[in-house]
Amino acid sequence: MTTMDARSMGTSVRRIEGPDKVTGTATYAGDSVADGTLVLHPVQAGVARGEITAIDTAAAQALPGVVAVLTHRDAPTLGDTGDPEHRVLQGTTIHHRGQYVAAVLAEHAEVAAEAARLVVVTVDENPSTTGFDPDAQAYTPSALANGQPPDSGVGDPDAALAAAPVVVRASYATPMEHHNPMEPHTTTATWVDGRIEVFEATQGVESSRQTLATLFDAEVVVHASHVGGGFGSKGLHAGTVLAVLAARTVPGRPVRFALGRRQMFETVGYRPATVQHMALGASRDGRLEVVTHDVVGATARYKEFVEPAGGSTRSMYAAPHRRTSHRAVPLDLDGPTYMRGPGEAPGSFGLECAMDELAVALDLDPIDLRVRNEPEVHPENGLPFSSRGLVECLHAGAERFGWSSWDRTPRRRLVDGWWHGVGVGCGTFPTLRFPGSAAEITFTGGRYVVAIGAADIGQGARTVLTQIAADALGVDVGSITVEIGSTQVPVGSIAGGSAGTASWGSTVVEAADRFRDKYGENPDDGDHADAATPDNPWAGEYAMAAYCAQFAEVAVHADTGEIRVPRLLGMFGVGRILNPTLGRSQLQGGMVWGLSMALHEESVVDPRFGEVINHDFAGYHVASNADVRVVEAEWIDEDDPYINPMGAKGIGEIGIVGVSAAIANAAYHATGVRVRSLPITCDDFLTSGLL
Ligand code: MOS
Repeated sequence: MTTMDARSMGTSVRRIEGPDKVTGTATYAGDSVADGTLVLHPVQAGVARGEITAIDTAAAQALPGVVAVLTHRDAPTLGDTGDPEHRVLQGTTIHHRGQYVAAVLAEHAEVAAEAARLVVVTVDENPSTTGFDPDAQAYTPSALANGQPPDSGVGDPDAALAAAPVVVRASYATPMEHHNPMEPHTTTATWVDGRIEVFEATQGVESSRQTLATLFDAEVVVHASHVGGGFGSKGLHAGTVLAVLAARTVPGRPVRFALGRRQMFETVGYRPATVQHMALGASRDGRLEVVTHDVVGATARYKEFVEPAGGSTRSMYAAPHRRTSHRAVPLDLDGPTYMRGPGEAPGSFGLECAMDELAVALDLDPIDLRVRNEPEVHPENGLPFSSRGLVECLHAGAERFGWSSWDRTPRRRLVDGWWHGVGVGCGTFPTLRFPGSAAEITFTGGRYVVAIGAADIGQGARTVLTQIAADALGVDVGSITVEIGSTQVPVGSIAGGSAGTASWGSTVVEAADRFRDKYGENPDDGDHADAATPDNPWAGEYAMAAYCAQFAEVAVHADTGEIRVPRLLGMFGVGRILNPTLGRSQLQGGMVWGLSMALHEESVVDPRFGEVINHDFAGYHVASNADVRVVEAEWIDEDDPYINPMGAKGIGEIGIVGVSAAIANAAYHATGVRVRSLPITCDDFLTSGLL
């Protein structure tokens, strides 16, 4: 078993669409505007829960320039996808504030917006619950968002906790957060002769096509040449359905719906809040006897999504007794969804802060504590690891970071009025391969055209697939043209689960192998081969995942409590990095988000109205240039022959995992103040009485 030889893979081939993007010629979903395009403006529910009793559209319809006003009374009946969010304008029930209850089509955006304001919606309001109370009545979901069971257990954790010489019990809280990709969700849809053509900001053209085909019982073509970020939010949401519904009422005319930033906080998902009750029990020499991770998380009443925050605790550390559990508190909000590192990002805050607290209780270096609890096999399912770089990441990262130069005692380093400290947090993310892609390779005009319906949402899929195809075909990257981003090329799975490159790449390699088997090194014009995604023969034989160790230096101002992060270092065990420039950027981007999660991001719901009140970039802070100082991403050499022919683990999400814990742990080390709730702000230090 070996990974394929690399000539182009591992080199920093320039991003293929880079010139198009920086010169503004790359087209996004909202740029595909033909003559006669109508603008859609939605009417949204102003209450969190209720029944529509009347809608008066007369004034809106009378406004010059208005082409149509659509409500549940006249909307076509949709097919059932099983997702309640897709049932747009299908009835009178309001499930969350901001839900689409009508739509206006007009020639111009200003007219559409004004007409939408003139629609009068009368509602019988019902009592709602929109504020997350972790002590409220919670239920046990049948499955977590990733399909895993809600609970897992080995041994007798309660007895082990009662008997353990050293025990840490603490609860950690993570807030609701919104993705906010740079490009808001946008759909341009045209309905002609029972066929829908959609330009869509999506993480998967084929999954969008399937959903729309089910809803509208029509032939659907979806294009997504370029997508300005997704992070899990660019599945198919209600706005897309609304746009296509509207397009169906005006056959032949394109309809465009581009969400405003505020709508990005109302209708396209978010990371739900969690409270995580951790308990760790260990021997005096720092061997874990027991780990428990009990999560209470918010979900939506009308659409279940349970954040798998305890998921990675099932594989991180050895302990003979263990338990994870997930309970859900239903709220009258729009549906939560996947957000970069769903489960792992908030879950690593609980586990990795608790590990730090245990290290303090044991008077042990937190790196040593983790190394002592490295499992030999997966601690819950017993599978060997295909590769596991956690310990190597800890050692290599500590060396590069200068970890050993810091005294472990908290509150030791005061420089120019700032308390400085360092912390570490670790993480994992599964290495997946999704089935269901197909690749076609055609030799034409002296070039190999490689077609697969992949999505490039900024990660560099075009570029990396070009490199993979070049190596698989044994030619230079200059001989390859990759065609992606449309359902008019063979199907591709989604850009999600950090599995895009592995899934599409494995498929391209399979097609390239067939091409070479058929035609050798000197093909003729028109020769072609295709392949579907091959199964991984090692799936089920090995546990496969990426690992990281994140290191943070934090400075907390001794008078104001202002917290800064002068330095982050992430050390990653992610198999072969296919393109160091793109890979580093991907990992650094995740780390920046981890910093943002640690210090800034929090969506605040006003429970009186069920509304996220900081629904713009003035109120919802994301890390910006002044917040981000030195962010280094490095990786260990890791050769994993079991995961896929390229030997590459997904890197889209692991970058964020563990960062918020590293920062919280560093803040403790700097100040002696333990913050167990994100985001960490100056109040946490000012109210501690310790500054
Ligand atoms: Mo990712 S949160 O699977 O797009």
